[in-house]
Amino acid sequence: MKLEVVVADGASAALLATLHGQCFSDAKAGGGDGGWDQDAFARLLAMPGAFALILGLGDDGVVAVPTGFALVRAIGGEGEIITLGVLPDRREKGGGAALVGAIAAKAGEMTAAHLFLEVAEDNSAAIALYKSTGFVPVGRRKDYYQPKRDAGDDVTSMIDAIIMRRDL
Ligand SMILES: CC(C)(COP(=O)(O)OP(=O)(O)OC[C@H]1O[C@@H](n2cnc3c(N)ncnc32)[C@H](O)[C@@H]1OP(=O)(O)O)[C@@H](O)C(=O)NCCC(=O)NCCS
Repeated sequence: MKLEVVVADGASAALLATLHGQCFSDAKAGGGDGGWDQDAFARLLAMPGAFALILGLGDDGVVAVPTGFALVRAIGGEGEIITLGVLPDRREKGGGAALVGAIAAKAGEMTAAHLFLEVAEDNSAAIALYKSTGFVPVGRRKDYYQPKRDAGDDVTSMIDAIIMRRDL
């Protein structure tokens, strides 16, 4: 089996919610870390221009073992990566880059000229992925994300979001 990325169909909301929960279980902040359930994904997928991708191991355009996902919206000539993740034990094997490549291809087909996203400034893995797939920083949203807190933490500072853009 090899890495495959497929477009999720309308029945994939439950799988997307499961993957989202697993991919963000260890994330510190931001990037869709909101405990989105199946209903939330169903509502998001119903938005005009929204689509989701499933990453996984498989063959011939079929994913047998899901290992990641992305949720994207492409409308009005622009695409936005709403959230994206790879399972913790499947990272640093090219899955994130495969997702971004498939996002760019599909958003381009939907006539998007650019892709945008927001990423927490302390999310070094995601920033490395986006820089290596052609995104450049174009702005900053101050105090955009609330840090995830463990019991006993007295962290109070918010985390800035970096806005990144890639031309298609
Ligand atoms: C960010 C994330 C999707 C990256 O997925 P991945 O499958 O590990 O990415 P890839 O293996 O395709 O790596 C892409 C590039 O990023 C680099 N990279 C990935 N993880 C890294 C890390 N922890 N530290 C440094 N660089 C890293 C890779 O070395 C590679 O760089 P290269 O192209 O120069 O070789 C994954 O870490 C993740 O799911 N994180 C939790 C959810 C999250 O933060 N999502 C993004 C929200 S905006």
